Amino acid sequence: MAEHKVGIIMNGVTGRMGTNQHLIRSIVAIRKQGGVKLADGDTIMPEPILVGRQEHKLRALAEAHQLSRWSTNLDECLDDPSNRIYFDSQMTNYRADSVKRAIARGKHIYCEKPTGATLQESLELARLAAAAGVKNGVVQDKLFLPGLLKLKRLVDAGYFGKILSVRMEFGYWVFEGDWQPGQRPSWNYRKEDGGGIIVDMFAHWRYVLDNLFGAIRAVSCLGMTHIPRRVDEQGFAYAATADDAAYATFELEGGIVVQANSSWCVRVNREDLLTIQVDGTEGSAVAGLRDCKTQHRANTCKAVWNPDIPNPYHFQEQWQNVPDNQLFDNGFKVQWELFLKHIVIDTPFPWGLLEGAKGTQLSDLGLQSWRERRWIDVPDLTL
Ligand SMILES: NC(=O)c1ccc[n+]([C@@H]2O[C@H](COP(=O)([O-])OP(=O)(O)OC[C@H]3O[C@@H](n4cnc5c(N)ncnc54)[C@H](O)[C@@H]3O)[C@@H](O)[C@H]2O)c1
Repeated sequence: MAEHKVGIIMNGVTGRMGTNQHLIRSIVAIRKQGGVKLADGDTIMPEPILVGRQEHKLRALAEAHQLSRWSTNLDECLDDPSNRIYFDSQMTNYRADSVKRAIARGKHIYCEKPTGATLQESLELARLAAAAGVKNGVVQDKLFLPGLLKLKRLVDAGYFGKILSVRMEFGYWVFEGDWQPGQRPSWNYRKEDGGGIIVDMFAHWRYVLDNLFGAIRAVSCLGMTHIPRRVDEQGFAYAATADDAAYATFELEGGIVVQANSSWCVRVNREDLLTIQVDGTEGSAVAGLRDCKTQHRANTCKAVWNPDIPNPYHFQEQWQNVPDNQLFDNGFKVQWELFLKHIVIDTPFPWGLLEGAKGTQLSDLGLQSWRERRWIDVPDLTL
């Protein structure tokens, strides 16, 4: 029973996503469980090297998780043949340059979304990786959320009959930073630094909708910057130049209509930070991050409009929970394990840089729709 050690360069690992989701909840968690077990009894053991600009942060993070390897020199890490994977969770604007350097050194690529600042940049990465013959993957974590896995189960079972529409509500109040610190990095609110909710969330909506319900064919989007001034991590006020809310409609193949509200300026009055309601001829469902509930046509109450009497309906009680039926692990970790298997034993991994580029395509077209105040078709994307 062999152990396959795989060196992973983790660049941008001191950031919010890098530290929490990718290092602690994925790579460190995989190491603690003894690696990724393979069917033949072998294991894959990830061997991370933490990369960034600030030595003291990297050293502290490495020590906190009993890791021995860290570096501020990306090129040195790329020159080490034991590092087979380059992973990137830097600020989006810095990703393309580093990923290109890694592809040129023959590294397999795994990275956060969005993969680039524009479609052109994202597509270039996908093409370079294909030409170099390196394996590649992009984080599509929402697909592995328990709530969305349950929704997928319902779709696969044909539960909905013909799916008519999908309503997505995403968001929460992100503090402005003045009287309470903001809970997201300030660059998210500066366009010039790669910020904006359209760029951020449409990268997710693309793969969620494509994978669950069908390819997105057209987009109409209205963006807003509701809060024009925020206060950054150092306490300095700055102009919020990026969109902080997006009100979009998508048309999917087969005629499914999707309405997707994404906002960092909304107070939550729903069961979760993301809820997805699907209405079909045979039944409906509402998924959150972990839960999913259904209402079959046979259980649908005949609602009648009558504001002259107190509401006799308890609408929330008319739904039935979809059972777990399995254990759900952290979605980022599940995808890391699949990617590691893809690298070592060549199992399929369908979420590569071309899929990532489709996300950037959707945000580019959403921004164009907003700018031009019109519907935009989403063309097929190929390498
Ligand atoms: N999959 C998801 O659900 C999800 C959620 C949030 C963010 N993200 C993506 O993850 C990436 C990181 O986001 P975050 O929220 O962790 O941001 P963050 O600001 O917390 O971290 C950004 C990282 O980039 C590094 N960095 C900052 N300035 C840099 C520079 N000038 N040169 C090189 N590196 C620099 C920082 O040191 C840090 O390690 C973004 O691309 C974002 O779109 C994904």
